[in-house]
Amino acid sequence: MRWRVFFGLQVLVVGLIAGAAVFVAQMHDDHVVIAKKPPQSIGQWYKPENKRQVWLHTMFRLRREVVAIETYALAEDSPNLNKWAGMLDKDYQKIASMVPEWAPRLDLDTLAAVQNAAGEGRYKEVIAALGKLNDTCRSCHADFRTVTAALYRAPDFSGMKVADGKPLNEHMAALSRHVNHIKIAIDDGRDGDAMTAFSNLKTGLDELGGTCVKCHNKLGQKIYPDPTLSGAIAKLEESLRTGNLKSKGRSLGMVAVLACAQCHGTHRLAFDAKVLYSQDKTWRRLLQHRF
Ligand code: HEC
Ligand code: HEC
Ligand code: HEC
Repeated sequence: MRWRVFFGLQVLVVGLIAGAAVFVAQMHDDHVVIAKKPPQSIGQWYKPENKRQVWLHTMFRLRREVVAIETYALAEDSPNLNKWAGMLDKDYQKIASMVPEWAPRLDLDTLAAVQNAAGEGRYKEVIAALGKLNDTCRSCHADFRTVTAALYRAPDFSGMKVADGKPLNEHMAALSRHVNHIKIAIDDGRDGDAMTAFSNLKTGLDELGGTCVKCHNKLGQKIYPDPTLSGAIAKLEESLRTGNLKSKGRSLGMVAVLACAQCHGTHRLAFDAKVLYSQDKTWRRLLQHRF
């Protein structure tokens, strides 16, 4: 009897371990990616909270300072080296005053080592210390660069309306239906229906073009449909009237690349990332898995 209890327990333990292993394997199947968000205090250094992209410009200066210091240390040009080392000192320390939460990520000892070596003309040591300082740039970038750019710099399409007040994503879904209606009608030899869907698509693209000018306001230039896309649309119309199956398919493909894929490559990708990173999911919502 006691043995039976003993074996029973063994089976139970093995079962639990097997159960745990299955659970872990499922977690791996889902490829959970954990992204760290930057502290909110960084927002004040971006538009629209700030008039300029202050954070980004500080970063560009840091990169320039690192390149200059490297150049002048190799050239053993002490006056220029010290000029740029002084600038690096100020800008690198600025990171902590702009985003206090990030102060612990800085290496002020190494920053001082760059200054001292530069001041005393120990050029090789300048390069070595600069390399070490660069590691702190790289480590912060690995954690935060992509998320920060998506959250604070990706153009925002949420709440955007097209033409008669239709939400952007509904307008998108309609455009996608027009493109597919054209393709289906071509394949099934329904030429009249292909033409109707084409004219709906053309109107839809013109309406969409009205939203671009809010941000892309090149003087006197129509950015969407631009001349290249307009040419492709005219060619598609001609193919639909007179072309064979192959030329119809090809000219539709060209319109889809120019009218949809190009913008998606920039705006949809970036906007999707922005939306993904700004979602705050509560445990309750995660457990329900309804989102
Ligand atoms: C504590 C965090 C942190 C540290 C340290 C840091 N950066 Fe950055 N850096 C960022 C973030 C966040 C971004 C993304 C900003 C954006 O794209 O809007 C960035 C972006 C940049 C960019 C623009 C990147 C690009 O390709 O568009 C450059 C250049 C840059 N950093 C240089 C540096 C240099 C050089 C150093 C070190 C001397 C450094 N940074 C240290 C956080 C940091
Ligand atoms: C909310 C502002 C905003 C709207 C609306 C907008 N854009 Fe942009 N677009 C930008 C910004 C800013 C850039 C520069 C790159 C970046 O930061 O993402 C850009 C870049 C692009 C690019 C890639 C670079 C280039 O110029 O070739 C394309 C293509 C583009 N936009 C197409 C469009 C089209 C087409 C529309 C309208 C259907 C549109 N955009 C509407 C802000 C906007
Ligand atoms: C601004 C440039 C831009 C152009 C040009 C553009 N799209 Fe989009 N598209 C977006 C953005 C941004 C989203 C994400 C919208 C959202 O999630 O609210 C999107 C989303 C979509 C969606 C998903 C809609 C949904 O149900 O959420 C479809 C489908 C789509 N686009 C099809 C198209 C087709 C087809 C074309 C060309 C005929 C096109 N788009 C042209 C920017 C563009």
